[in-house]
Amino acid sequence: MAVTIKSEREIQLMRESCRILAEVHAQLGEAIRPGISTGDIDALGEKLIRSYGCVPNFLNYNGYPASICVSVNDEVVHGIPSKERILQEGDIVSLDAGLIYKGYHSDAARTYGVGQVSREATQLIEVTRQSFFEGIKYAKAGNHLHDISNAIDAYCTKYGYGVVRDLVGHGIGTSLHEEPQIPNFRQWRRGIKLRPGMTLAIEPMINMGSCYVEWLDDGWTVVTEDGSLSAHYENTVLITDGEPELLTLLPGQS
Ligand code: MF3
Ligand code: CO
Repeated sequence: MAVTIKSEREIQLMRESCRILAEVHAQLGEAIRPGISTGDIDALGEKLIRSYGCVPNFLNYNGYPASICVSVNDEVVHGIPSKERILQEGDIVSLDAGLIYKGYHSDAARTYGVGQVSREATQLIEVTRQSFFEGIKYAKAGNHLHDISNAIDAYCTKYGYGVVRDLVGHGIGTSLHEEPQIPNFRQWRRGIKLRPGMTLAIEPMINMGSCYVEWLDDGWTVVTEDGSLSAHYENTVLITDGEPELLTLLPGQS
């Protein structure tokens, strides 16, 4: 299927889906503390999503067995929550969540430090977040998709970090994953031209060490090959005639 351009009606539905997800994320962020299990975070996330009358879009997606992806330390993405996995002071944890509102999908991820974390870990989290904002400086109609990719890569590479290549961002709308794929690493093609009405999930996944990743035997959990820490930051973004709209951020949120 080609890249979709959303109508004004669809954009309104995307806005609402994403606003609800932003509220879910805000509440999940407040729950992060030493002693909580990743399974508890998933249960809370599912409860919150359903409390808004929405459906968790990750649950059963290609057989994924939970509503929230909870990835700790060297886990890059798609960590499977478990009541046995207890967060410890000093861990870093990425929460990736999404939901469906009236047929429209939203998708966003945040990485948090659990209690006090090392200076190195704090920097990784902050650079990953900032790389998203460096990327979306180019998320304007008339620019090309890979302008975003190149900006994210250039910013993270400055810090010596590994930009994950095996996973990418994506278009989003009536499906969780639509065209185009959105790499976070340097591209030699320009990619498609950006147009108003495109909704894109832009999601840098950044490793402190090597860019290479591996899949665990559970078929889902992606970990860094060298065991280094990894961070993830994602928002669903609307391309407009002017500045992009960050649909999964509430006013004042970052
Ligand atoms: N943010 C992730 C993605 O875009 C979430 C999908 S994970 C799955 O692609 F659990 F749904 F598979
Ligand atoms: Co995504």
